[in-house]
Amino acid sequence: MFQKLLGLSLVAAVSAHQNFHQFWVNDVSAGYQVGVRMPPSNSPVTDVTSNDMACNVDGSTVPSGVETVAASEGDKITVNWDISGHPGPITHFLFGPVDDASQATGIGAGWFKIDERDYVDGKWANEVMGANGGNYTFTLPTGLQSGEYLLRSEMLALHGAQTVGGAQFYMGCAQLKVTGTGSGSCTPSISIPGTYKAEDDNIYIPNVYNGFDPTTYTAPGGSVATCGGSGSGSSPSTTAAASTSASSAAVPASSAASSAPVTVSSAPAAVASSTSKAIASSTAASAAPTQTADDSEDDSCDADGDDEDDDSCEAEETSAPATAVPTTFITRTSASSVAATSSQAAATSGVASSGKVKLYGQCGGTGFTGATECESGSCVVMNDYYSQCV
Ligand SMILES: *[C@@H]1O[C@H](CO)[C@@H](O)[C@H](O)[C@H]1NC(C)=O
Repeated sequence: MFQKLLGLSLVAAVSAHQNFHQFWVNDVSAGYQVGVRMPPSNSPVTDVTSNDMACNVDGSTVPSGVETVAASEGDKITVNWDISGHPGPITHFLFGPVDDASQATGIGAGWFKIDERDYVDGKWANEVMGANGGNYTFTLPTGLQSGEYLLRSEMLALHGAQTVGGAQFYMGCAQLKVTGTGSGSCTPSISIPGTYKAEDDNIYIPNVYNGFDPTTYTAPGGSVATCGGSGSGSSPSTTAAASTSASSAAVPASSAASSAPVTVSSAPAAVASSTSKAIASSTAASAAPTQTADDSEDDSCDADGDDEDDDSCEAEETSAPATAVPTTFITRTSASSVAATSSQAAATSGVASSGKVKLYGQCGGTGFTGATECESGSCVVMNDYYSQCV
């Protein structure tokens, strides 16, 4: 059996489910789970027609009771998610402007994409985030109208995308009060739910385990919008322009919403890849990424009988290819990932020169014959097929 996997190695994940917990505006955060509409669980939404697609379960209840955080166009936004081994993109959208973000359900028309990170340089967005302690950084577009917005962060997990309805959407909405210079809307805009269709070719990927080329992938939600409406053609910037000086004025507290507008850089609009460079160049967390207790429990899908996540865990397992490989897959960061043709090949790529398994590498599981000693962390059983150094 020779499968061309192109970056998809058939090993299980760091964690099964994830949430968006915190964000920073120019490196200043209002706090853990402050300014974010937290869902009742870390389970995915899989029905793309559900209103839960907008801001997750209960995320469209208004008034939200959530604080609205000040920011300015062009500001650097860092989101922090639970670390996930599920391969897929991260995208960000804004909904607005509205008078009062806490009163906006976010359901339906009025969203526009402001940032997208897919599979770049051999890594899915979730892998890059994993290497950054769950952080992902992008910038708010320039040319935004002043007003309040919902900021929607979406991680799409593709490990079950070989079946219709198998792709797992994770999302969370933050509330922002933005100071901007724009006078027109940002286009194109989309509806959530509405625009995504279960059989879109970036949601339903029949060959995700067999020939799918992740380098061709673009996330749902269309293209990144252009803001301003003044005909200047200024594109939503992932410009690195986010001026740190101005940024410190943007205290993330709703009471400080009147921070001075950021001086907009006249730098040419950056291409999306600048985001990835920003990520790549940002200092990696020196500490090992931590997982919440919730996540650890979720890891063993069949062990937490009290957890509503079980359904999706089972779905993952039953939708496995007939070869009985684990359905979660991650892409490897080493050069060998592109050519990885078996889980064994992928596993060996996680071995350090010491002969011990690197952090997040496979260290055990049914049929596994590689090294079992962890260079750092300890070898934790994720499921029958996969143990991992975490
Ligand atoms: C995420 O980014 C924020 C803002 O720069 C930083 O304060 C925080 O330490 C980062 N978290 C991790 C785990 O790297």
